[in-house]
Amino acid sequence: MINHIVVVGSGVMGRGIAYVGAVGGYAITIVDVNEKALQNAKSEIESIFDKGLARGKISAEMADQAKRNLYYESNLAHAAKNADLIIEAVPEIISIKKQVFETIEANAPSQCYFATNTSTMSPTEIASFANRPEKTIAMHFFNPVHKMPLVEIVRGLETNDDTVETIRKVAEKMGKETVVINEFPGFVTSRISALVGNEAFYMLQEGLGSPEEIDKAIKLGLNYPMGPFELGDLVGLDTRLNNLKYLHEKLGDKYRPAPLLEQYVKAGRLGRKSGKGVYDYTKEELVPK
Ligand SMILES: NC(=O)c1ccc[n+]([C@@H]2O[C@H](COP(=O)([O-])OP(=O)(O)OC[C@H]3O[C@@H](n4cnc5c(N)ncnc54)[C@H](O)[C@@H]3O)[C@@H](O)[C@H]2O)c1
Repeated sequence: MINHIVVVGSGVMGRGIAYVGAVGGYAITIVDVNEKALQNAKSEIESIFDKGLARGKISAEMADQAKRNLYYESNLAHAAKNADLIIEAVPEIISIKKQVFETIEANAPSQCYFATNTSTMSPTEIASFANRPEKTIAMHFFNPVHKMPLVEIVRGLETNDDTVETIRKVAEKMGKETVVINEFPGFVTSRISALVGNEAFYMLQEGLGSPEEIDKAIKLGLNYPMGPFELGDLVGLDTRLNNLKYLHEKLGDKYRPAPLLEQYVKAGRLGRKSGKGVYDYTKEELVPK
């Protein structure tokens, strides 16, 4: 029985997972090593509640209840001690994930399930950093979590059926549809979206058109809800680059990150979260509608 969920990482994804978890009726502890990130997550979550209330998507009673379900913490070892499920949402860098899984293995109860929100990586490899591969799985949410309907559930080599069913029920209680697939780098969704996003950067680098023209062509010509640059800025260009580096290593040249994307990340242009990516979010009139 899952009552208490610990979400590790309070960035773009962790805060969204915490929100849908609290609305789904779970007690949620959000953990981050960075105090400022925790504060930002708190105000971002408040703003999702405010917009949900204003648009009639959530009742005042539900919002009050969900807010009472949310706790913020900087000590992962402490938070893990009474968790039923831990969902990891730290950066897509294997050494950071390893450190998190070693800490939770040492502190979480033996019956606790472990999930990773990795976009591309192997849940089997991530499970190897702890000692309960049958209870470890990838639970891949999408951005923005409170709006996107899917959770892609990815079995590792030793993940058992009880874990798959438990995670599927948790995702459904969070209001999500699910697909259950077997592991492969990039799963279904990131394998496609990384390729499209990277190709758009190659086009920009080649001078094919402006970001606005390329985004418009993809949206109106191919019926995508967002252009690849709008999506990249939402995802975070650093996260997109980390995904591509991993896929390049595992799947070869077709995922080689575009040099222009690497340059944007070096310049600190990470997308919406840093105020500037392909587009400039500090000047509201320049933000594509
Ligand atoms: N951004 C997206 O659109 C998206 C979509 C689906 C999946 N993902 C995946 O979700 C994961 C998180 O991505 P994100 O975009 O939220 O990243 P992010 O950079 O926005 O947030 C990561 C957070 O983790 C924190 N952190 C770092 N080390 C930590 C540690 N040891 N313990 C606790 N917290 C720690 C950081 O301080 C930061 O607040 C990645 O694996 C990414 O691939 C991202």
